[in-house]
Amino acid sequence: MVQLNINGRTQQVDVEPDTPLLWVIREQVGLTGTKYGCGVAQCGACSVHINGEVQRSCSIPVSAVKPGDRIVTIEGLSRDSSHPVQKAWAALDVPQCGYCQSGQIMAAVALLRKNPKPTDVDIDEAMTNICRCGTYQRVRAAVHMAAGTGKGGGSIIHMGDTAKMGGSVAPADSKAKSGPEEVH
Ligand code: FES
Ligand code: FES
Repeated sequence: MVQLNINGRTQQVDVEPDTPLLWVIREQVGLTGTKYGCGVAQCGACSVHINGEVQRSCSIPVSAVKPGDRIVTIEGLSRDSSHPVQKAWAALDVPQCGYCQSGQIMAAVALLRKNPKPTDVDIDEAMTNICRCGTYQRVRAAVHMAAGTGKGGGSIIHMGDTAKMGGSVAPADSKAKSGPEEVH
């Protein structure tokens, strides 16, 4: 039996110690906003926060997580998709298929905690998440919007408001779209 703290709730799970954290989050706990992509720490679809740091949960055995470690998934960012980064994602219609987007958002939140005004280079270096739909330009624009460094200035973000716990919310909406990626 393993004890985990996920989105502010204590969870007891009966799994083998080498089970990847991703599978515990999805299969045992039922939080499916965190996605499986590559399984080898390359794509970032499985990104969660552990003690405020973005981590790729597909490659972390559950035995490596301590009971006191704070795991936050996309469902733990806000109760109603109201986290400022989620708002920026919605405002700029970032997702295409949506599959990578919860991982992108988790990476963006972690970046903005450390660097509230990132440059394009900072964003590209920090956010190595892969998007097969090629939403990179929109991701970058949304990070700038959340930081208040996008076109039009003013921030919609209050970065102290990054760790509301509880409740389940959908990750950034998955919308089927066609046509080329727009660049804003
Ligand atoms: S599924 Fe974990 S990095 Fe790709
Ligand atoms: S893989 Fe990123 S939106 Fe489709």
